[in-house]
Amino acid sequence: MPSLLDVGGFMLERVATGSPLSMVLVAAAFVLSLGYLLQLGFWSQPRPGQGKYPPYISSNIPFLGHAVAFGKNPIEFLENAYEKYGPVFSFTMVGKTFTYLLGSDAAALIFNSKNEDLNAEDVYSRLTTPVFGKGVAYDVPNPVFLEQKKMLKTGLNIAQFKQHVPVIEKETKEYFKSWGDSGERNLFEALSELIILTASHCLHGKEIRSLLNEKVAQLYADLDGGFTHAAWLLPGWLPLPSFRRRDRAHREIKNIFYKVIQKRRQSGEREDDMVQTLLDVTYKDGRPLTDDEIAGMLIGLLLAGQHTSSTTSAWLGFFLARDKSIQEQCYAEQKAVCGEDLRPLNYDQLKDLNLLDRCLKETLRLRPPIMTMMRMARTPQTVAGYTIPPGHQVCVSPTVNHRLKDSWIESLEFKPDRYLQDNPTAGEKFAYVPFGAGRHRCIGENFAYVQIKTIWSTLLRLYEFDLIDGYFPTINYTTMIHTPENPVIRYKKRSH
Ligand code: HEM
Repeated sequence: MPSLLDVGGFMLERVATGSPLSMVLVAAAFVLSLGYLLQLGFWSQPRPGQGKYPPYISSNIPFLGHAVAFGKNPIEFLENAYEKYGPVFSFTMVGKTFTYLLGSDAAALIFNSKNEDLNAEDVYSRLTTPVFGKGVAYDVPNPVFLEQKKMLKTGLNIAQFKQHVPVIEKETKEYFKSWGDSGERNLFEALSELIILTASHCLHGKEIRSLLNEKVAQLYADLDGGFTHAAWLLPGWLPLPSFRRRDRAHREIKNIFYKVIQKRRQSGEREDDMVQTLLDVTYKDGRPLTDDEIAGMLIGLLLAGQHTSSTTSAWLGFFLARDKSIQEQCYAEQKAVCGEDLRPLNYDQLKDLNLLDRCLKETLRLRPPIMTMMRMARTPQTVAGYTIPPGHQVCVSPTVNHRLKDSWIESLEFKPDRYLQDNPTAGEKFAYVPFGAGRHRCIGENFAYVQIKTIWSTLLRLYEFDLIDGYFPTINYTTMIHTPENPVIRYKKRSH
């Protein structure tokens, strides 16, 4: 029989993972009194000589602050605030004060800062450590994580990408066999399932891919269920079902990886894959990675690219379905670059698919999967004449930077050819940052391009896509990565 704590945890989770409003209500019920006390002492003024704080968007709702308005539509909230207060402003949500830095100039503060001053672990580790495990990523001091990123990057090279292209093409053809000749299907769901297969095959190697069955896919889904607002907002010790599923999945996936790693160590056989790269590599001081670190890095590698790439691929599909002329040009490009008979793709051809490249770039401008990058201010930070005090969560939003009217012409239009003209944002280093910048910059950009372009080349050859009754998905803001709402697409086999 479930304990009272279990039932409480279940109820709490249901609301915490539900609509923004219910999430907000439950948080209110639990912490209102605590929050109010916090709020009272919160907004102290800077001491003399410390400069002035950024404009603060006040709220009558203690503790929760602007959580409801932000949860409903964060982009609109931030754009309105930008109009009213300029590029730097602060507000409170669920007891935390956020300071946003909008536009390229203000964003520079985050990208150029030291991790000791604007810290990533302080904000991300409670979400990532239970999923990736201890000893990797945000669970270790940043210089160690930087070494780990470098190790992973050595396994993400052009020689590897050349092998990845046929693997991804084959997986895609195989997966989409079940779609038949025509129909209406959930594109996002399909691409999420496919990308676990392609990413595992390419990033983990064929040995781990061969172990991927429905049960393991479910484990990944449970692990992935750790990336929620609930996990970020609520204490980790709460007995929520999703926390338990996440922790169990973490243990089981690690056990699968340990077996592969140990077998490889014992047999002495060498493979040309990421597991081998991580077995061979050492830290600067000569220490090799432990099995636990390797397993954690393999999980991180897969999950860092999973949602980001599947969401981006789905949005790209809907942009192409909405603009049939661009879709047909992309199909014509396949023939122009790869030949009329459309033989299997290779990496060099992929590089020459310039229109598809621009479409992906434009998709990442309008729908960057990471809507906000965040750091904790550990020391006072000066920007645009303001002082941000320690304790603020300092944020940059690619989504907002990518559509600022000061930087982009016809900012909301999907216009892949805008990149053919002189770059309108040439003078603004951080106007386009879907992969971040600086010390925390993404290491997966090239792989993501290879993966998404290969999948879409294969799909464009197979099918013609249309919106259903003109419906272009709205944005689902309740998930951490903004996914398409009701992402069903119509497709019909091409006759060539
Ligand atoms: C469309 C696909 C992707 C997008 C849009 C994306 C976006 C990002 C962004 C915005 C950051 C910076 C986060 C921050 O500064 O807080 C980042 C970091 C990172 N990404 Fe990606 N990513 C993608 C795919 C991938 C893939 C495929 C991998 C792995 C193969 C990956 C691995 C990483 C890693 C290891 C970091 C470093 C985090 C840090 O140093 O703090 N990403 N990514």
